[in-house]
Amino acid sequence: MEILRNQRAKPSSSSSRFGLLGLLAVFIFGFLASFSAAEVHYHEFVIEAKPVKRLCRTHSTITVNGQFPGPTLEVRNGDTLVIKAINRAQYNISLHWHGVRQLRNPWADGPEYVTQCPIQPGATYTYRYTIQNQEGTLWWHAHSRWLRATVYGALIIRPKMGSPYPFPTPKREFPIILGEWWDRNPQDVRKLALYTGAAPNSSDAYTINGQPGDLYRCSNKETMKFQVNSGETILLRVINAAMNQELFFAVANHKLTVVEADASYTKPFTTSVIMVGPGQTTNVLLTADQTPGRYYMAARAYQTAQNAAFDNTTTTAILEYKNGKQKSFPSAPVLPQLPAFNDTNTARAFISQVKGLKSKGKVPTKIDKSLFFTVGLGLINCTNPNSPRCQGPNGTRFTASINNISFVFPRRNSLMQAYLQGQQGVFTTDFPSSPLVKFDYTGNVSRGLWQPVHGTKLVKLKYGANVQIVLQDTSIVTTEEHPMHIHGYNFYVVGMGTGNFNPAKDPANFNLIDPPHRNTIGTPPGGWVAIRFVADNPGIWLLHCHIDSHLTWGLATALLVENGVGTLQSVQSPPLDLPRC
Ligand code: C2O
Repeated sequence: MEILRNQRAKPSSSSSRFGLLGLLAVFIFGFLASFSAAEVHYHEFVIEAKPVKRLCRTHSTITVNGQFPGPTLEVRNGDTLVIKAINRAQYNISLHWHGVRQLRNPWADGPEYVTQCPIQPGATYTYRYTIQNQEGTLWWHAHSRWLRATVYGALIIRPKMGSPYPFPTPKREFPIILGEWWDRNPQDVRKLALYTGAAPNSSDAYTINGQPGDLYRCSNKETMKFQVNSGETILLRVINAAMNQELFFAVANHKLTVVEADASYTKPFTTSVIMVGPGQTTNVLLTADQTPGRYYMAARAYQTAQNAAFDNTTTTAILEYKNGKQKSFPSAPVLPQLPAFNDTNTARAFISQVKGLKSKGKVPTKIDKSLFFTVGLGLINCTNPNSPRCQGPNGTRFTASINNISFVFPRRNSLMQAYLQGQQGVFTTDFPSSPLVKFDYTGNVSRGLWQPVHGTKLVKLKYGANVQIVLQDTSIVTTEEHPMHIHGYNFYVVGMGTGNFNPAKDPANFNLIDPPHRNTIGTPPGGWVAIRFVADNPGIWLLHCHIDSHLTWGLATALLVENGVGTLQSVQSPPLDLPRC
């Protein structure tokens, strides 16, 4: 059901008239082709409600092909994916392939009302795209309201046939997908928050590959187990698919060697704990060098917002040494030590150790377009603070913004379709390059600056421009780590710091030699992060906080990258089955 066809492009070999030399040539060609031929992977993703039992209760959960988490996609660099999405759920939906560059092909990117209108109940849409020069772990998820709470899965990109990893090939690999589970329908959690203006309810559990683990009620029979042989080195592909929470992850008694993040290789380094923000992926090697037994792997919150409720539970899975004849290990698994919830020092120390393996010589040094974005929350004042719609702090409603503009998604058309059709009135391209009002961003911000304006304003970029964006967290409502994600792009993370970015001093310390190449990076809480990229992918690309409650409140904008010269620098024409609004 899941895999319809998996075709390999075969070289045709007809040798009858060629003689021995011809035969040899065909043989060599066939041999080479078997090493380089890219595959086309055909899948059908049926989106439908299915009963899923978690935390003692059965829910009607939106799934793909009845699976939660959804199917793992396994491909090689250079392969093409053709995924027919069939919507049999009662909600509009779209699917996003998080981190895939989608060169010239925003039509396959997926965010609803940005690159496409959602796929309506009963309708289908086929996503077609090719992986170009990317290797590692990515993932896919719904990009429509809060459906990604349960509609997500891993996307594993292995090197081309015959080309090695830049580290010893691991004996086995496991995707470790960290998720977040609500006892209520996540769509209702979102709806309620949008009605009351208060923060959405925190989740009831975190999950590893869909399972909460031993520390939750009615869960220990299904706890995920990962088996290793003593002495083996394995690869864990850790994905943070949680809706609203940065997470710490560790494995009891075992060190982790980080080798890749966001499908880009990193300089290996060893650590006992990693921090992964929503949207981010981190690949780690683990050597089973401890006394054979059972060890917990665990994840729990890294929480940076002050005075905010959060889910403080811990999800676990079990790393189990295969144990010859003996059926089971006598003692219960040990739990790893995880940092305190607010341990920003550990989180920052980890993130700043992540360095690119192949960045040298590729980081833009001359900047054509320099942007400064304040990112953070805000509060909307209410005329009647006692209204049921104003249940945020002191009778307000929560909101969020970039440069004081809270992003409004269009409802009648997608940005890409409006752009292509030259339809006026859907968006403007006057997003400010820096905040119109300057203030002490991380200091004591006057209340008059807490309420943003609403708008659908885009950032226009010339094809090929060298772009720098400094993302500055603010202390409005609270300082917080915001995992900022850009669709269609990877960027070099050239610098970060605490407090306000200083354009006169900070650039001198930028790392232009080996910065990590990522698709999602957190603003340090009460600090800033600087990123650089070449605007070499034309189209409209969403830039947003990957904490879904913040996205819901408008912490987003979009980059409109203009076409360059000729077809190879221009957006492809849209597929015929692109959903209409
Ligand atoms: Cu992982 Cu806009 O998405």
